[in-house]
Amino acid sequence: MFSSGALRGAADSVRSATAASSSLRIGAPLVRTCVQQQPRGVASGRMLEGRRYITAYGYTQAKALVYSNYGEPKDVLRLHKHSISPPHGTQVNLRLLAAPMNPADVNQIQGVYPAKPPFETTLGTGEPAAVAGNEGAFEVISTGSGVKSLSKGDWVIMKRTGQGTWRTHAQMDESQLIKVEDKNGLTPLQVGTVSVNPVTAYRMIKDFCDWDWLRSGEEWLIQNGANSGVGRAAIQLAREWGIKTLNVIRERSNPEETEALKKDLLDLGATAVVTESELLSADFKNIVHELTNKGKEPIRLGLNCVGGKSATALAKTLAPGSHLVTYGAMSKQPVSLPSGLLIFKNLVFDGFWVSKWGDKHPDMKESTIRDVFQLIRAGKFKDVPVQEVKWTWDTDGAKLAEEVQGTLGGFRAGKGIFVFESDD
Ligand SMILES: NC(=O)c1ccc[n+]([C@@H]2O[C@H](COP(=O)([O-])OP(=O)(O)OC[C@H]3O[C@@H](n4cnc5c(N)ncnc54)[C@H](OP(=O)(O)O)[C@@H]3O)[C@@H](O)[C@H]2O)c1
Repeated sequence: MFSSGALRGAADSVRSATAASSSLRIGAPLVRTCVQQQPRGVASGRMLEGRRYITAYGYTQAKALVYSNYGEPKDVLRLHKHSISPPHGTQVNLRLLAAPMNPADVNQIQGVYPAKPPFETTLGTGEPAAVAGNEGAFEVISTGSGVKSLSKGDWVIMKRTGQGTWRTHAQMDESQLIKVEDKNGLTPLQVGTVSVNPVTAYRMIKDFCDWDWLRSGEEWLIQNGANSGVGRAAIQLAREWGIKTLNVIRERSNPEETEALKKDLLDLGATAVVTESELLSADFKNIVHELTNKGKEPIRLGLNCVGGKSATALAKTLAPGSHLVTYGAMSKQPVSLPSGLLIFKNLVFDGFWVSKWGDKHPDMKESTIRDVFQLIRAGKFKDVPVQEVKWTWDTDGAKLAEEVQGTLGGFRAGKGIFVFESDD
């Protein structure tokens, strides 16, 4: 699991910092300064012999996970070392705190995702390349003289997806960043995972159903992929907003593990949790009838992360006029729908894509994120389970790529998240 202590831990290795360009090689005096420096998070008195990221000339050394061709992450991702100039004008230099590995990030590297960051040579790569990763939390390490809203030590997230977050350091324009207004009570993990999954869940619940707030606690949503980052966020937001949730998970390899996962989601605030086999069984109609107070409590929204038969089964439970919103396709199976659901129940089938939505509604995206942060600070929104992948200056690129490769494996104990450990 993620530990904030690890995040702030200092690098232990001794390294005389060497910039990408030989003209930036650091001499002995600077290394001595570096060794005497007391980085954050290090117990006083401990001699820290870390690498210095900012050279005598103000250049920041950086590494980025880049790709120049589409393919499997383990085959196409490589670690590219480069230098970042001191920021000028409205530029901001950043250091990575934490960046998750989401399914869409992998699809993007595979070339099967509709949004494709352009391949460029701006980082000095031999071939044009894109930096992978779409969300993450960064800390401001320096700002250009024209920067108005940010200062050293602030935490930021990317305004849009596609800006490339799997990198130790970055230089962005102030306009590309969202400042975390009050980082108190928040961890890098929470900040680094807020902009995709919680925002997706939030908007789908709010924007695709005209909930009858006078019937709080009597209306339902149903979702598959309930153990996903989006699914867990939906459970907690719905609980806060008085909406009951019927959640579908995949069976684990044994009944005990399945029960443990059900309990985990019930503890988060799920009203009911069923397995995919239960969803697809002939008895499911009766299960729903019982759960919904003999059908008196309508299921007014469906959230589809999976597709295939699972999506069809969700749709069949919906009350007339309801929406089934598709946001993921984890089974890779198409969504097929009985015509009767359209003709006689007037169901509406939508898709939602948070990237597009966020680009169109940047102010709403920020206010949605602020709302989620408020819930987190109030202890009402728990972190997604994660598997922390430590990234230090010396971490091998192949190891990082291997971690990315595992993202689509499923049945994971937690979402993979890069946590950068640095001393500067
Ligand atoms: N449209 C949007 O704007 C948007 C935004 C965010 C996410 N998404 C999409 O939503 C999906 C989930 O993303 P996430 O980041 O929340 O995922 P995540 O936390 O990484 O979890 C992935 C989920 O997918 C499930 N899964 C994997 N393979 C499956 C299969 N063959 N059949 C059924 N379920 C399967 C896993 O189930 P287990 O728990 O059983 O392993 C897990 O719950 C992805 O498709 C992602 O691209 C879309």
